[in-house]
Amino acid sequence: MSTRHFLCLADFTPDVLQGWLSLARDLKAEWKAGGNRPVLRGKTLGLLFQKPSLRTRVSFEMGMIHLGGHAIYLSPQEVRLGERESVPDVARVLSRYVDGIMARVFDHAHVEQLAAYSRVPVINGLSDYAHPCQALTDVFTIWEKKGRLRGIRLAYVGDGNNVARSLAFAAALTGIEMVAASPSGYALAEETVGRARSLASLGGGSLTLVEDPVEAVTGADVIYTDVWTSMGQEAEAEQRRRVFPPYQVNAELVAHARPDAIVMHCLPAHRGEEITDEVADGPQSVLFDQAENRLHAQKALLVWLMGPGG
Ligand code: CP
Ligand code: NVA
Repeated sequence: MSTRHFLCLADFTPDVLQGWLSLARDLKAEWKAGGNRPVLRGKTLGLLFQKPSLRTRVSFEMGMIHLGGHAIYLSPQEVRLGERESVPDVARVLSRYVDGIMARVFDHAHVEQLAAYSRVPVINGLSDYAHPCQALTDVFTIWEKKGRLRGIRLAYVGDGNNVARSLAFAAALTGIEMVAASPSGYALAEETVGRARSLASLGGGSLTLVEDPVEAVTGADVIYTDVWTSMGQEAEAEQRRRVFPPYQVNAELVAHARPDAIVMHCLPAHRGEEITDEVADGPQSVLFDQAENRLHAQKALLVWLMGPGG
């Protein structure tokens, strides 16, 4: 069988995604009961970063430890992917040493290139295009909190960025009805809408783009937001701070959702910008359960990619 990779959720079917969710649920239950599955004993995951991280680095390192393996962290200054050494050469060399590579990059083409030249599985730990580990975690969290995915109404409020794109693919594949509200010029691209809609024909979800955040949030089961300025867009921060304030997730906006709606954010949050302290720390927030679930969802992925039969 050819080497498996995890680069973008649009590459997968609803059944495969559901398999990861069920495995994540089982692994989480085992871990909560004090157990672990050492199915990656003797295996090592290389963690290659071009950008900073808290959750991605620590959840992958801990995930490998729980599964009996190891991780090696490679900082942005160390490898200087594509600068000190070409992307294909980094993939060729690293994959002679390790059993899997997790990479956080700017250019999505770089994770694709790593996969093309690697002998071992490559995981996209965030690119400018997609954040599939996050979206897998997010649908896992919604499933856990709401008991179902099909028919859930998810309002994404903010920038049509990597997190929004992967969430749209995950929603489409799992039967979630996603409505994304973004300011003009910051909505998800047509290409993404087209891909999400073709995935929706398999998974039963949907994607609707609107400009009005109240319209998106009205009747929602889940409200989701992310930073206005993503890593790599710092030069646009001033301009974005002028455009995005009507998209802040605050108590007034949340009041338009269902009373039992949950509030999600991939973190890190720029509190006082896209989300207020009142909402982030309020009773509807699931931000830190969501962050914890990175560990469980990614353990399922690691087992699928690197475990026996992977
Ligand atoms: N949500 C997320 O990927 O967090 P980090 O950037 O801290 O890894
Ligand atoms: N959209 C954000 C997500 C960070 C986890 C970024 O790319 O910076």
